[in-house]
Amino acid sequence: MPYPKWHHSTIKKIKAITEKQLLFRTIIFSLFVFVSSYFYILNLSARNPLNKSVADTSIILIGLSMLLTSLCYFWNFVDTKIIYRKHLGLVGFAYGIFHIILSYSSVLSLLKPETWQKGIYWPLFTGVIATIIFMIMALISNQYSARMLGGIVWRAILRVGYIAVVLIWLHVFLLKSARIITWYIEGMKTPPSTGLITLIFMSIVIILRILLWVSLHQKKS
Ligand code: HEM
Repeated sequence: MPYPKWHHSTIKKIKAITEKQLLFRTIIFSLFVFVSSYFYILNLSARNPLNKSVADTSIILIGLSMLLTSLCYFWNFVDTKIIYRKHLGLVGFAYGIFHIILSYSSVLSLLKPETWQKGIYWPLFTGVIATIIFMIMALISNQYSARMLGGIVWRAILRVGYIAVVLIWLHVFLLKSARIITWYIEGMKTPPSTGLITLIFMSIVIILRILLWVSLHQKKS
C-alpha cells in the first residue's frame, strides 16, 4: 500500500490521545520493563541489579521506538502504536541518563590518563558517543526543530539513531562478551543474562532496519 494511503488508514484507527496520555502510558510501560528486568537480574544473583535494569530499560525503549518503523512497514499488527515512537525514545533516553549517573565511577575512569594509555576506553567510549547522538535526537524531537531543519534533514538526523544502537550493541558486547562466552562454555546452567538478551534484541532492531532499507531501495530502483 502506498505510504499516504497507509498513513491515512492508520490514523483513522487511532483514537484521539493527548500528548500527556501518551507520555503517561509510556512511563507505565517503562516501569513494567524496569521491574521485570530488575527481578530477573535479582533471580540471577548478578551484581548491580539497579544499574543493569535501568540500562536494559533504556535500550529496550529506545530500540522499540526504532523497531516500530520496520514492524509497521512489514506487518500491520502494531500500526496503531506508531504514535508512541517519540515518547518511547524520550523516556528511554531519560533511563539512559539515570544509567550514566549510576555508572559515575566508569564515567570518572574516562578522565584518567591510564584508561587511554592502556587502550581500555572503547566499551565506555562507544556509550558516550551513543549518548551524544541520543541527546541530539531528543533535542530535535519536536515540531519546531522539524520546521526549522526541514523534513529531509530532520529525518536524516533521526536516522543516525541506528548508528547509536550499533554503538550500544558494541558497548554491551565489549562489556559483557567474556561473561557470556564463559556462561556458554560452562554449559548454560543459568538463564541467559540480560546483557545477552539486550544484544539479541538490538540485533533484531538493526537487522529489520537493514531489511527495510533493502526493500525501499529495491522498490525505488
Ligand atoms: C544512553 C546510553 C547508554 C545505554 C542505552 C547503555 C546501555 C547499557 C546496557 C544495556 C548495559 C548492559 C546491562 C546489563 O548487563 O544488563 C550497559 C552496561 C554498562 N554501561 Fe551503559 N549504556 C549507555 C551509556 C553508558 C555510558 C555513557 C557509560 C559510562 C561512561 C556506561 C557504562 C556502563 C557500565 C559501567 C555498564 C556495566 C554495568 C554492570 O554490569 O553493572 N553506559 N549499558
